[in-house]
Amino acid sequence: MFTKWGIPNNICDNYPIGRDNLNQFVGHSEKIKFLSDLLSNKAVVILEGEIGVGKTSLGNVVRHSKKGFFTPLLEIPCKSHWDNDVFMAIILAAIVKEIMRKESPHRALKKYKIVKEIHTVFSDVKLINLGISGAGFGISKGESLSRAALINQSLLLDYMFRIGRLLKENYRKEAPIIIQLDNLDMGYGFKEEDLMRFFNEIRDTLQNPFFSWIICGNANLGPFLKTNVPRVGQLIQHVAVVEPLPFKEIIAAFRLRIKKANMKGELPLERDLLKLIYDLSNGSFREILNIVYQLLIKYYNEPLVKTITADHARFFFYDAGQAKMESLKRVKSQFTVFKAILDHPGIIQQDLVKVLNIQQPNLSRITKQLETSGYIQIKKRSRSNYYYPDIKLYLGFKGSGLGR
Ligand SMILES: Nc1ncnc2c1ncn2[C@@H]1O[C@H](COP(=O)(O)OP(=O)(O)OP(=O)(O)O)[C@@H](O)[C@H]1O
Ligand SMILES: [Mg+2]
Repeated sequence: MFTKWGIPNNICDNYPIGRDNLNQFVGHSEKIKFLSDLLSNKAVVILEGEIGVGKTSLGNVVRHSKKGFFTPLLEIPCKSHWDNDVFMAIILAAIVKEIMRKESPHRALKKYKIVKEIHTVFSDVKLINLGISGAGFGISKGESLSRAALINQSLLLDYMFRIGRLLKENYRKEAPIIIQLDNLDMGYGFKEEDLMRFFNEIRDTLQNPFFSWIICGNANLGPFLKTNVPRVGQLIQHVAVVEPLPFKEIIAAFRLRIKKANMKGELPLERDLLKLIYDLSNGSFREILNIVYQLLIKYYNEPLVKTITADHARFFFYDAGQAKMESLKRVKSQFTVFKAILDHPGIIQQDLVKVLNIQQPNLSRITKQLETSGYIQIKKRSRSNYYYPDIKLYLGFKGSGLGR
């Protein structure tokens, strides 16, 4: 598909970096060293940052790049309705799965009484999908989650300690087990009260002496927990704010993806266009990957297009966004506000009030509607709101005049 450019088809994959592709990670080297040292003793650390900047990837790199940490393959994508029993069951399942991977399922079950015990109990309540090889140890979503409730709570607690001790004695004398909790995103999946409930629920588990925790969530998770869930806040050793990668590291990351695929091409985007996408994305690598992918898909089989330029982007996203713009034009108040944001990407609330000469409550109502229907993004930073147009609409319609 993209081979005409000498780049791999999966150049824009947006999965977090994990154990199998650690070498595609770029930057953050001091943070990695710092966090890795911190987690060598029992610790709770928060990785917070804007959507798509690379929190999950950074956590994975920290956990997996130091030999001697024991940590399950995947991060745990937390759900707001979990109670502590479900939480413990899922962590135990992840750990047992990892032990079985390291030792082979057969050996692990034979060698460790506790692994066998957990495996048996979890199988009984069908919390484990045994699979043919036994390696398919996993919890399927939905229904099986409630099955954790069928396991006696004190049993789960006992398992958490015994598995902790086992790993300390067998794998790594010093370092705790590292578990990464993911998706603790305020406003996405977790309302404020969900976060408070969830963390109060799992508080005792966080204190288990054998475990260290990396907790990933969107901006402000750390301060939020410190203020609103003080007894959990006290347990937090460090809040790391994950900053967006600088532009040159984004370029380096694309190059690395090409190199690791043993290909020789270059990302066929004009540098200025890529920079524009970067600026508009606020450093969300996920968003950049998404936009670049759409452009590549659009132009890969047009033989005349060697390099994708801002004009190509405008042409494509103008067409793609027309219906959306037409329907916006029918709501005059929203259209006016959108136009102003399109002219001033990143404008702060107070300035927008001035530009439009509009009352703040009215503006808030309209921007909320625009955000919900995907015309703009609102970023909260240091108590102010910043408004950004949707990147695709910006690329398609900026400078088009828009009409009235
Ligand atoms: N330092 C990095 N080097 C190379 N690629 C990266 C880096 N950080 C993130 N990426 C890539 O960017 C994309 C988004 O990363 P990731 O999922 O870790 O972000 P996130 O902040 O956890 O996102 P979300 O807010 O959606 O949870 C992934 O495709 C990942 O591979
Ligand atoms: Mg993530």
